[in-house]
Amino acid sequence: MGCWQFGGSFGFWENQDRSDSIKLLHYALRSGIRHFDTAQGYGNGESEQFTGQQLKRFSKSIGREELTLATKILAKNGPMVRKDVETSLRRLCTDYIDILYLHWPSSTVSIPPVLDALAELAETDLVRSIGVSNFPLALLRSYGDYPIKYLQMPCNLLWIHDIQETQRYCKEHSIQTVGYSPLGLGILNGNHALAPEDGRKNLYCYSQQSYGAFKALYGSLEDLSGKKQCSIAQISLAWAFAQGFDHLLLGARTKFQLQQNIASKDINLSAFQLQELTKLAQELALSVPKSQDNIFNHRW
Ligand SMILES: NC(=O)c1ccc[n+]([C@@H]2O[C@H](COP(=O)([O-])OP(=O)(O)OC[C@H]3O[C@@H](n4cnc5c(N)ncnc54)[C@H](OP(=O)(O)O)[C@@H]3O)[C@@H](O)[C@H]2O)c1
Repeated sequence: MGCWQFGGSFGFWENQDRSDSIKLLHYALRSGIRHFDTAQGYGNGESEQFTGQQLKRFSKSIGREELTLATKILAKNGPMVRKDVETSLRRLCTDYIDILYLHWPSSTVSIPPVLDALAELAETDLVRSIGVSNFPLALLRSYGDYPIKYLQMPCNLLWIHDIQETQRYCKEHSIQTVGYSPLGLGILNGNHALAPEDGRKNLYCYSQQSYGAFKALYGSLEDLSGKKQCSIAQISLAWAFAQGFDHLLLGARTKFQLQQNIASKDINLSAFQLQELTKLAQELALSVPKSQDNIFNHRW
């Protein structure tokens, strides 16, 4: 379960309704979801706090050992890393973090000392495993000597850059893959009537050079949703589930959306249908300027 929605940020999910979040998280638990993914950056700690407090309410029926709590920090110099972890532990109402990620690479902070600090923490009782997020394959390879156990990366039709090569590398190096944004931050859900302040409006697929390829992909999703009698979002998710990631993070704003998303696990697309969607996603990938190396066009 992705927990970004519980603390909106950067123009995404900033009008999220708290009572919807409560119903959603409780429904996730009742549905058997046990892996919760948050970050210090989501609502400046609000998502961590909300997730921790809500999970604590279930602590009598769902023991801590049954849960996987993952959070992410930004690159900072060594001693600051431990401070950040203590803050996350407090917000998450827990004694340990199962997966601690470095959220983004950085061009201003040297990465090896940060990874050293994370690896040291993984030797303590505070952190079980470490991971990196948004590390392109070449960068991931260059940190092959670190005990990185998880890689978090997009798993959606809007951003399939290096997806297979990265999965292969991770498999060979016993790194678990965690796919995020299976609906392309909700863009692959059939609703393009986005509010002016919605950060999704600025994503590259709406740019002049990419819009044609995006529309072609979208047309195919629409077509399949008619054939399979399900929503466009469910077709997008069925493609994401078929990519073989070790974990897929579902994002939702309401219990109803999560119900739909879980149900999409049972939608089977044929090998041909999957290939056709992948081909259209590759066309879309070709429209992205070489200088853009992540879906958000985030400059590290
Ligand atoms: N490491 C990273 O940098 C990174 C980046 C992104 C995400 N993540 C993680 O991955 C998680 C999932 O990513 P995401 O939230 O971007 O997931 P997503 O599945 O791509 O998008 C979720 C959004 O899609 C819409 N939606 C969800 N289910 C729907 C349905 N059944 N029908 C129609 N619309 C639906 C909702 O937004 P609307 O209703 O507003 O359209 C929802 O907020 C995050 O919560 C976070 O934990 C990590």
